[in-house]
Amino acid sequence: MKRKTVGKVLSQKCLAPGIYDLEIATCLASDAAAGQFVGVYTKDASALLPRPISICGVSDDRKSIRLVYRIAGKGTDEFSRLKEGDEVTLLGVLGNGYDLDKIKSLGNNDTPVRALLLGGGIGVPPMLELSRELAAAGVKVISVMGYRNSDTFLLDEFKKYSDTYVASEDGSVGTKGNVLDAVRENTIEFDCICACGPLPMLRAIKEFAGGKPAFISLEERMACGVGACLGCVVKTRDIDHHSHVNNARICTDGPVFEASEVEI
Ligand SMILES: Cc1cc2nc3c(=O)[nH]c(=O)nc-3n(C[C@H](O)[C@H](O)[C@H](O)COP(=O)(O)OP(=O)(O)OC[C@H]3O[C@@H](n4cnc5c(N)ncnc54)[C@H](O)[C@@H]3O)c2cc1C
Ligand code: FES
Repeated sequence: MKRKTVGKVLSQKCLAPGIYDLEIATCLASDAAAGQFVGVYTKDASALLPRPISICGVSDDRKSIRLVYRIAGKGTDEFSRLKEGDEVTLLGVLGNGYDLDKIKSLGNNDTPVRALLLGGGIGVPPMLELSRELAAAGVKVISVMGYRNSDTFLLDEFKKYSDTYVASEDGSVGTKGNVLDAVRENTIEFDCICACGPLPMLRAIKEFAGGKPAFISLEERMACGVGACLGCVVKTRDIDHHSHVNNARICTDGPVFEASEVEI
């Protein structure tokens, strides 16, 4: 159920230059899942729309969520100054998230499904909660995370839940290149892909999947975040039952789509 609520900052730390890790105590944690996101409001009264940030983690007691974000502009810069005890207004939980049952159903009793998780840049954080949830569900998880350079973040945590590989654009860590270069270099085998990252990366993944299921999170620009403004539509293969046209709203129908269902 979606609601606007006030959370309390439990901690904030800097993970890498410009990348922050914010833990917030909030009732939204009770039903947050991998691939979903929250809208985080700024204190600036002229900025009415909340900033969408993905769920990077949910605490074991389901009382707090973790958001890992990059400073991109005014809003995220303001969030980076939040300290323990500060209040922060949130809208959530938003979006569909990854369908764990669908992913699990791709395997059989003898061999667990092998899910290849691909995260690029600020698409890395949502993959962490997904790796945790999939590993807990008995799925074999292989993570390949891509960064610009050696300023990596969250890698040690991925290693708890998955076989973990790294790619960096400048070659300073792991494979030089992008996440697909690392998949090819390490001849990684998989049954399905789950991915989050910039659009060119998602386009390349759709092509690369070669008929295997690929679930991609389209973290495109958003406005209202609740399906009202149509500022986030994506062209779809099938006609939407609600609007009767070939499109879907990323904020409510997504952000996670099966790659074959959307034109990107
Ligand atoms: C569903 C969803 C989940 C997201 N999850 C995360 C996350 O987990 N961590 C994270 O760091 N960011 C995430 N983002 C992106 C984040 O919402 C934006 O970076 C943020 O809203 C920027 O706000 P701002 O006020 O700091 O910057 P603004 O002043 O609004 O913009 C600053 C710059 O960032 C660019 N920008 C704004 N929004 C986006 C976007 N969605 N994608 C790419 N560039 C953008 C603008 O073009 C501009 O150049 C997510 C976005 C979506 C839609
Ligand atoms: S952001 Fe308004 S409909 Fe999606």
